[in-house]
Amino acid sequence: MDRPALGVRSDLADLAPYISPQLPAKVRLNTNESPYPPSREMLEEVEQGLRAEALNRYPERDALVLTDGLAARTGWSRDGIWIANGSNEVFLHLFLAFGGPERTCLTFEPTYSLHSNIARIAGTMTASAPRARTWDIPDGTLEGALDEHRPDIVLFCSPNNPTGLLESRSAVEIALQRVPIVVVDEAYIEFARDGSSLSELLDDHPNLVIVNTFSKAWSLAGVRLGYLLADPAIVEELYRVRLPYHLSTFTQLVGNAALRHEDDGAQRIAAIVGERERITQGLSDRGFEPYPSEANFVLFEVGDRAQTIWKGLLERGVLVRNYPSSPVLGTTLRVTAGLADETDAFLEALDEVLEGM
Ligand SMILES: Cc1ncc(COP(=O)(O)O)c(C=O)c1O
Repeated sequence: MDRPALGVRSDLADLAPYISPQLPAKVRLNTNESPYPPSREMLEEVEQGLRAEALNRYPERDALVLTDGLAARTGWSRDGIWIANGSNEVFLHLFLAFGGPERTCLTFEPTYSLHSNIARIAGTMTASAPRARTWDIPDGTLEGALDEHRPDIVLFCSPNNPTGLLESRSAVEIALQRVPIVVVDEAYIEFARDGSSLSELLDDHPNLVIVNTFSKAWSLAGVRLGYLLADPAIVEELYRVRLPYHLSTFTQLVGNAALRHEDDGAQRIAAIVGERERITQGLSDRGFEPYPSEANFVLFEVGDRAQTIWKGLLERGVLVRNYPSSPVLGTTLRVTAGLADETDAFLEALDEVLEGM
């Protein structure tokens, strides 16, 4: 008897899997990771803590210690904090709970592609509006998109990946007046100038969600840990959609240790910001147009040389991010700010590639 074939869900048929190549390269500047491992003291604490854990038991389901630690760090109430496996899973939980087939999520492109991908995975309709070439969202575009799409959820990203620009506070405030849920992804906020976080708007806006991650400034991309701050009424709904015991004992242990060792990070962040400025200057000196960045990466214009330069860098062991199939970003490359040696390697390789062109 013929077995009936089952294709993928029809609404996912044209969804491309997320690809940021993990190519072997000596200098990997393509995924905005921290070049620094966590401190030795912190890792020793994790090692000791792990020995004391009962790994035969399920983890503490509500990650109470970690939640309290984040409450102490952020000054936000524990009932308004939600933790998951990376901010990507935070977004998944948000869309599973508040998205779905009758709801629309609006993004401003270009931005982090996973925002709309995750919305779609959770069955949510997506709409987008274009940023200006300076990467801001003109008031007219914002108002027009809100009128046209009537979104249930709007997603901002501040600083935005891949542009590096902070979102304008007034744009977020306009959305907060008109949209049921407004999400601001602040994955890179620790690299921005002081006072850039929009979390201070939380007190007056029960429809605001601020998302952050331990993957960037905290040097913990490999652990998968992210969280959101929001009104407790929003957080309460997320319990419906999480899988039981979603945060492993190990993840919670590392998160707790990271919070205890937060001070270790300040120097690393300052060094990365310094490299970002060196990269920006180095690119300008070579006649490129780098966009001003408040994050740990720099996007720069290379025109129709994008693929040649990307390939030339890779041949010299330096991997940066390219966007070969993007109509908007096809003429750009994005380079992560890492160690001083990595900046040197990038600029030297770039000089060699340019010489050979
Ligand atoms: C804007 C933005 N948000 C979230 C993430 C992913 O975060 P996580 O590792 O916490 O899932 C990234 C990763 O590159 C990002 O650029």
